[in-house]
Amino acid sequence: MVSRGNKIWVDGNLLEGPDADRVSLLAHTLHYGVGAFEGIRAYRRQSGSSSIFRLRDHIVRLFNSCRLAMMEPRSSIDDVCDGCVAVLRDNELTEAYLRPISYLSDGSMGLLPRDNPVVTSIVAWPWGAYLGDDALNRGIRCKISAFARHHVNTALTAGKLCGQYVGSVMAKREAQLDGYDEAILLDTMGCATEGSGENLFIVDGRTLITPPLSSGILPGITRDTVLVLAREAGYEVLEQRITRDQLYLADEVFLTGTAAEVTPVREIDHRPISGGTVGDVTRRLQERYFEVVKGHDTTHPEWLTEY
Ligand SMILES: Cc1ncc(COP(=O)(O)O)c(C=O)c1O
Repeated sequence: MVSRGNKIWVDGNLLEGPDADRVSLLAHTLHYGVGAFEGIRAYRRQSGSSSIFRLRDHIVRLFNSCRLAMMEPRSSIDDVCDGCVAVLRDNELTEAYLRPISYLSDGSMGLLPRDNPVVTSIVAWPWGAYLGDDALNRGIRCKISAFARHHVNTALTAGKLCGQYVGSVMAKREAQLDGYDEAILLDTMGCATEGSGENLFIVDGRTLITPPLSSGILPGITRDTVLVLAREAGYEVLEQRITRDQLYLADEVFLTGTAAEVTPVREIDHRPISGGTVGDVTRRLQERYFEVVKGHDTTHPEWLTEY
């Protein structure tokens, strides 16, 4: 079980104790899945200070998810950003994963949420490598999932919305039960989209290719970070649809996400990628990423919120 920080932020108040994260059984989101959340990491840097990575970008995405789902948080973007800092400071967490969530509380039951308040909470806990240290070092084995990524017209794919994760959880379970580390979901036309909780990149020589936002993927903040860092490092970067053949034949494949960071893929459906090892481009971008989020690199101060 996750050992969370004791203090939880709820719409401007830091609450503590067993009642702090109690949610009503009649909370609308619990039944129908209309809620939005974020996953954010704070790192202890080599300088000794700690900083939250791309805090405001995450909270802006939270508010965009809420807009898509027609939810109006009672707190402002600034309030929620301040709340994230307060949760880390008050729980004395120098490195952590932050989980802000906006949900519809109890009020009306039935599909139409008439008077259900939108509650925004933030909880934090220490979290190491999402797919394990071995995954970051040696790469992971992936399976093309039997579950497709939502079609852009059946879900609000740009939103990080609670109910939309049923498909991702099923894909993850299927992959694990079949002996793989992670699932890669195709879209309904058969092109690759993303992992169950990560965006997808392939490397072809000195070119990086990642599916475009219009393919129904989550607009990942790590994806955006890697696009910036790759361009700065002189790689060509294309946002293009990726076929299953391209995946199998790619020089390198990797996944990106706040939780998964930059995770190399060494095998897909029993086909070794990069000879079953971690490719040079992936390794360089992974090193660059960690240098920016927790190393000495300060070329992107706009991405770091010290606390
Ligand atoms: C479905 C999905 N795709 C991609 C990502 C990666 O997004 P980010 O890099 O913003 O964490 C996540 C994680 O939030 C996710 O849940």
